[in-house]
Amino acid sequence: MYSLMFHKFQIAEYFDGASGGAETSISIPKRDFFRVNIYENTKWHVRLLAYAARKKIESALTSARRAQPKPPFQGEVDRYLRYKGSGLMAQEDPLEEEAIEYLCSHGDDVMARHQTPPHLSEAIFEKDWRSLTTQQKCGRLVAERLSDTEVPVDTVANFGSQMDVISPFLAERFPNTEFVSVDFPEKLEENNTAVLPERENWTFESGYPLTLLQEGKISPDILFCTSTSVLFRTREFEAYLEALSETTNILIFNESWFPETFSSDFLSVTRPEDINPGEPYLGGEFSNYHHNYKHLLGKHGYEISLSRILSQPDKNYHTLQLVAYNTQLEKETDQHD
Ligand SMILES: C[S@@+](CC[C@H](N)C(=O)[O-])C[C@H]1O[C@@H](n2cnc3c(N)ncnc32)[C@H](O)[C@@H]1O
Repeated sequence: MYSLMFHKFQIAEYFDGASGGAETSISIPKRDFFRVNIYENTKWHVRLLAYAARKKIESALTSARRAQPKPPFQGEVDRYLRYKGSGLMAQEDPLEEEAIEYLCSHGDDVMARHQTPPHLSEAIFEKDWRSLTTQQKCGRLVAERLSDTEVPVDTVANFGSQMDVISPFLAERFPNTEFVSVDFPEKLEENNTAVLPERENWTFESGYPLTLLQEGKISPDILFCTSTSVLFRTREFEAYLEALSETTNILIFNESWFPETFSSDFLSVTRPEDINPGEPYLGGEFSNYHHNYKHLLGKHGYEISLSRILSQPDKNYHTLQLVAYNTQLEKETDQHD
């Protein structure tokens, strides 16, 4: 048993800087592994026990007093269980009108609370990856791809941009490329430009990114997402990929990567390619979807060139970074040459 544990720890601490795309590399120091996979996972189990005990006491009291049932418990565990129990997790289609309307108005409120977003600076290229915030990691990853890609890039889109600290930074660094922030909130531009520097090559599109893409209102050469593709349901993600495969050469994901909620496996970090494609697991308090990116992207003509899991200091998740190239579009370009 001890040797099995020891072996698994070696995997968790394993360092494989240059991932060739075949398998996701994992580079997480022991302290970050302990915090996310053991401490946080244990916390979830304790919450589950407390939740079960509370439910039992509540139902005993209710039947004893013949009282009216109380409103359902609205904690994280309850939300998670309802989500998972709905059976819709892997099946849901793109968002319907009601959800879109909610995200449009709700997003404005959320952004109004983020008045002082952290800015990105040149320092992100000097620090080690671990020490960067999620958004800084994303900014650096996109900047590095923009610097070394041989594919022509006119437009770069950030889906689920919210308060987009990344695009103005990139827009200044790459003045000949257009950057577009895309998200639901109606006041997306107003809220962003109230606190972030304006750039001539930085614009905004408010609405459901999937619809804007399907209607041809946006057709980026590079798409990046941070803390956003983990909110896509499987069929919705597939709809995104189907539309993107017609226009977009490079996809870049920089996503929070949690252990599976209530997982009994405390000792390993799950690679995306090891997840059952039809059953993304849920993790984290917001029930993020953990997809098999390799399977979904491959199905739509994208080949992964980088896939790695890095640690995220002071957070209860790791960060998955993934870059994929559109093999279909490349072929078409080759044929025209
Ligand atoms: C957690 S926030 C991340 C915001 C920003 N990328 C950042 O890192 O600060 C997720 C964003 O995704 C957007 N979003 C939620 N569901 C989405 C969906 N199905 N398709 C596209 N965007 C979505 C939300 O409006 C929100 O702005």
